[in-house]
Amino acid sequence: MRIIVGVSGGIAAYKSAIVVSSMVQRGHQVQILMTEGATRFIQPLTFEALSGRPVGVSVTDQPAGPISHVKLGKWADVLAVVPATVGIMSRLALGEPTDLLSLTYMSYRGPVVIAPAMEPKMWLHPRTQEHVAKLAADEAQIVGPVEGHVASGDEGMGRLADPEFLVRAIEHAPIPKALSGIHVLVTGGATWEHFDPVRAITNPSTGRMGFEMAQEAAFLGARVTYIHGPRGADFGTLHPSVTSIPIVSAKEMRDAVWNIAESASIVVAAAAVSDFRPISPAKQKLHKSEITAHWDVTANPDILAELGQEYGGRKFLVGFAAETDNVVASAQSKLAAKHLDAIVANPVGANLGFGHWEHRAQVIDRFGGNATINEESKEISARKIWERLVDLFYREPYV
Ligand code: C5P
Repeated sequence: MRIIVGVSGGIAAYKSAIVVSSMVQRGHQVQILMTEGATRFIQPLTFEALSGRPVGVSVTDQPAGPISHVKLGKWADVLAVVPATVGIMSRLALGEPTDLLSLTYMSYRGPVVIAPAMEPKMWLHPRTQEHVAKLAADEAQIVGPVEGHVASGDEGMGRLADPEFLVRAIEHAPIPKALSGIHVLVTGGATWEHFDPVRAITNPSTGRMGFEMAQEAAFLGARVTYIHGPRGADFGTLHPSVTSIPIVSAKEMRDAVWNIAESASIVVAAAAVSDFRPISPAKQKLHKSEITAHWDVTANPDILAELGQEYGGRKFLVGFAAETDNVVASAQSKLAAKHLDAIVANPVGANLGFGHWEHRAQVIDRFGGNATINEESKEISARKIWERLVDLFYREPYV
């Protein structure tokens, strides 16, 4: 993608270097435009080195000759302002093009992402809010600010959104919001079935796939409920459209799922639910000699199969099948047995699947289709899986 990143003069300007670096690593072409104020906080040279392109600061006074805001406006697929100060937002909202960035904004037509960062009091000022509302009415996507520590030492709404989150928001800006108005329920992670407070049956699933499926659905415009087992790792900022419901055991997951399922149009079950649970878990830590008395287990309910019984054909149901062998055949029989619309089959084992960054998958659907997604990061994999699922979802009137 061709992205203009506008940098305005606030202390968070240094964080836009992280955004630009990540964008370039992800294969995008990035043109930086800085305001004069921004150059006081961070050197254009930093951005020049990261983007491999001359940085635009002034309309006329450029080392390599004048920069045409009109040409730039035609060139870009997305225009992002990171960080956006109160000053630049006012100029963009009111159409006062006194610098190269706001001139370019006015000669550009396409998706815009604005990432404000400022003192909480400035953010909450009625003028700022008016300008933000104007920009949003012009279909700019306002990402952040977020709650937390700001440079003055205060706490409040004013921090720049997390750079990795901004990268995703910018990448998604030109992608149609295909799930807008749809409620999606996602399960993720391993469940923990406790023998006692310190011992449990579980499995190596990190929960990353469920997290990415929830996150991507939200970026596609869905309202998402994400019910997940205990997470070992922090995967980053969740999209504000995702409501996260943490659970521990399969029984808790089942209760949470049934509370929500009725209002969802799509259910994606990416959880690695433990197949068994102890019959008589102890409330206190067991002595080693007592453990065998609590050893007996019973099968857990199959949450997705139960949903299939109730909602098969009425809601769009998606399973995940992690398999070590006969990947496609096993997934196909689960697709049929659980009354699913699609199942994402993925091989697990050496360097793939559980606990690994990369992911290989096949989306097998009830229309007989089979789409392969090759060894991608789980984030990119989730994006491609959703592309396929969206296509399948709109073939039938599930909503
Ligand atoms: O464990 P299995 O391979 O049958 O899992 C296939 C699908 O069923 C997955 O989507 C998983 O989330 C779901 N499942 C479930 N409840 C279980 C077991 C599996 O919802 N007890």
